[in-house]
Amino acid sequence: MSARVVVVGSANLDLVVTAPQLPRPGETVLGEDFRTVPGGKGANQAVAAARAGADCAFVGAVGADEFGQQLRDNLVAAGVDVRGLRTVPGPSGVALIGVDRAAENFIVVAPGANAALTDLDAADGAAIGAADVLLLQLEVPLTTVVEAAGRARAAGTTVVLNAAPAAPLPADLLGLVDVLVVNEHEAAVVAATAPGEPAVLLDALLELVPRVVLTLGARGAAYADRRGARLEIPAPRIAAVDTTAAGDAFTGALAVGWAERGAARDGDAVAAVLRWACAAGAACAQRPGASTALPDRAAIEDLYAATYRGAP
Ligand code: RIB
Repeated sequence: MSARVVVVGSANLDLVVTAPQLPRPGETVLGEDFRTVPGGKGANQAVAAARAGADCAFVGAVGADEFGQQLRDNLVAAGVDVRGLRTVPGPSGVALIGVDRAAENFIVVAPGANAALTDLDAADGAAIGAADVLLLQLEVPLTTVVEAAGRARAAGTTVVLNAAPAAPLPADLLGLVDVLVVNEHEAAVVAATAPGEPAVLLDALLELVPRVVLTLGARGAAYADRRGARLEIPAPRIAAVDTTAAGDAFTGALAVGWAERGAARDGDAVAAVLRWACAAGAACAQRPGASTALPDRAAIEDLYAATYRGAP
């Protein structure tokens, strides 16, 4: 049976410009290419999970505009269950994204309809309760994130929180998180500490949650849990073109792998899940096009096999 993943999160229409370099504050630079791409951390992670093989449902909100229809169509095309996707008055969420030749980016999000996802209904609760993993980010109201996590905890569904964009987290949410996924910047913000070595960040975060996955970009990922496990997984060596949705590819695949391999119950499975997630993130980064580059299962498996030959 496929892993069952529910995502409660954002959907944005990404307005993406590539440029030789990103502008500094107050600066204008001439860009090169422009495209509109369905995005949003929540929708990206839902599509990533579906492409990675999950039976995935998305709970979110889009506006009553053309962008909203595009965002809905994109989720449906990926095979995501959109019965929990509301259409609300006003504009859809939008993200302005710049990508430079070194594959670095900046992102500014106008939440639009995402801000209207203020409560969950009985059907959302049933979907969360029937899932293996609930996947959350921080682009919808925090009260909704907490409510979703609470429903998952009550039903025994694993809560994976990708704390992006970076924000301090209240204790009532931290107490409901099973697996926290953060990059180094987000880790420092959540732990309310200065940026530091991965081991130091992991120690600080384990004071708050039982399991932490720290993404390290081209260096791979690190993991620690309160049972004493410590892992460092190198990333596949690739030529990165666009890292915009790579973190979403990583997190979506992580949720699928976590559910499929029963990682919560089997410590040895965690390393395999992290390799699988690293392969997904790298497969995404080596292609342009933000969310259009989210890899399918075959692409993840190919890069996994090529990179971690012989590993389980
Ligand atoms: O993680 C990438 C995503 O962040 C983009 O798709 C953008 O919409 C923002 O949510």
